Amino acid sequence: MIKLTIDGKKIQTGKNTTILMAARENRIKIPTLCHHDGLSPLANCRLCVVEVTEKGRTKVVTSCNYKVAEGMSVETKTENIIAMRKMIVELLASRSPNVKLVRELADEMGIKDTRFVLENEKCILCGLCVHVCSEFIGARAITFSGHGSEKIVSAPLGSSAKDCLGCGACVEVCPAQCITMKDIEEARTYSSGDHEHLGPARLIHNWNVRVLWKKCRVCGNMFPPPSPMKYLKEEKPLPKQFFETCEKCQ
Ligand code: SF4
Ligand code: SF4
Ligand code: FES
Repeated sequence: MIKLTIDGKKIQTGKNTTILMAARENRIKIPTLCHHDGLSPLANCRLCVVEVTEKGRTKVVTSCNYKVAEGMSVETKTENIIAMRKMIVELLASRSPNVKLVRELADEMGIKDTRFVLENEKCILCGLCVHVCSEFIGARAITFSGHGSEKIVSAPLGSSAKDCLGCGACVEVCPAQCITMKDIEEARTYSSGDHEHLGPARLIHNWNVRVLWKKCRVCGNMFPPPSPMKYLKEEKPLPKQFFETCEKCQ
């Protein structure tokens, strides 16, 4: 076991624990945006910053990917840390003022106005959709493109995400709830040979995809892509042939 202090509280935790996990085990709240318990840390949003003192040296680190160490002292709410988090949220509040989570964070931090130019983007660029699709689903159907203010998440080359399996994991993990998905009974889709199909399909508007329902390999019924979220939450890998089997026959 590793002994350390967080906000002056003496705690013990396992060797490979991150500061964020150790804090949560001890009900110490650190805000996050790009963290998901079932995925490896992205360390993208920097909202989870804390001050760490080790061997007499103090530095700012992201708590979601920084491991605990013996004798470490962690401060989660210093003036410096609060100011850094406020700056991140203020920038987000200018980019995405209508995203519920951003408004909640701004309220919590007492941010009423932003000094930056107001936009109205729904996506906060946390990266969780790209991450879950690549790391957990293994589809790599979507990606970041562009730079700076032009940066977006989309299908490769901005066209249709042809590798998308329609599983909806990206929809589920999106903290901004800005990915829209629906099942429709009669959709026109095209196979690689440009043959037209008509049938029930799942639409994911952000990635410009229509994924046809499949026939279950066990019961033979048509079914929409099953949700992998149970496995993600339990931190278990997806079973083989997961996408070939309806939820009832899983
Ligand atoms: S719905 Fe498509 S883009 Fe989203 S996680 Fe699943 S495979 Fe990836
Ligand atoms: S679409 Fe959602 S999950 Fe993906 S980067 Fe934007 S806010 Fe994050
Ligand atoms: S939660 Fe740690 S950097 Fe986003």
